[in-house]
Amino acid sequence: MSRRKLIVGNWKMNGSLSANQILLNRIKAGLQTGIDATEVAVCVPALYISQCREELAGTSVAWGGQDVSAYESGAYTGEISSGMLIDFECKYVIVGHSECRLYRHENDDLIAKKVVRGIRTGLIPIVCVGESLAEREAGHTEVVVEQQLAAILNAIEPDELDKMVVAYEPVWAIGTGKTATPQMAQDIHGMLRLKLEAKNHESAAKVKILYGGSMKPDNANDLLAMPDIDGGLIGGASLHAEDFLEIIRLAECHSKMYSNKR
Ligand code: PGA
Repeated sequence: MSRRKLIVGNWKMNGSLSANQILLNRIKAGLQTGIDATEVAVCVPALYISQCREELAGTSVAWGGQDVSAYESGAYTGEISSGMLIDFECKYVIVGHSECRLYRHENDDLIAKKVVRGIRTGLIPIVCVGESLAEREAGHTEVVVEQQLAAILNAIEPDELDKMVVAYEPVWAIGTGKTATPQMAQDIHGMLRLKLEAKNHESAAKVKILYGGSMKPDNANDLLAMPDIDGGLIGGASLHAEDFLEIIRLAECHSKMYSNKR
């Protein structure tokens, strides 16, 4: 089964009010015609969520945060709660990005709590998993990725499975210009799908599994053609309107093929 594609921009710690304005205007203009089968979102620094809400309300582009607290409210200086993200009508939140795992030492347990908090308050978490270069070279890719996903699956109920998105992001491919080959990525996506099936067979077919790690206009088509690659989590290329739009157009061709088959 193939699914309609989802393309999410991860701006990371980039942008300014004026630069965002230009980028969002270009994205909106580029999406005015011809994109109706692909879902599009941008996950932006928390301070710019309200700008995105103003600019994107009523368009086909959703917005979201890049992290969420595992706690509801209280003495957690610096954190942002799911309720606050919902207040600003965020649809998505990235959880467990490798940069958070690495620089903020987030572990599987904390990430699972964030996912649960997100799902139970109505956000769609985009849960990131992926191996480092050393782990791949040691032949541990599957074990590492499986373990990261298992922590999440153990924390949620079977009927919550289709309320999240998974993103496979090999750490060695993020921001490096190196990408997994479509077949390498498909192998891991297929394995992830089997793990999702073990949690809830019916829902697993609906869960979108995105690929992330230097997805660009010149490699997106081949990646998006794979049966278990349901879209992309796009870092660098999402900061350039033309590149982001081109990836969305490519995804749209694949989404349309799916719609026509139904
Ligand atoms: P990249 O980032 O596209 O710049 O490699 C992807 C990500 O980290 O989500």
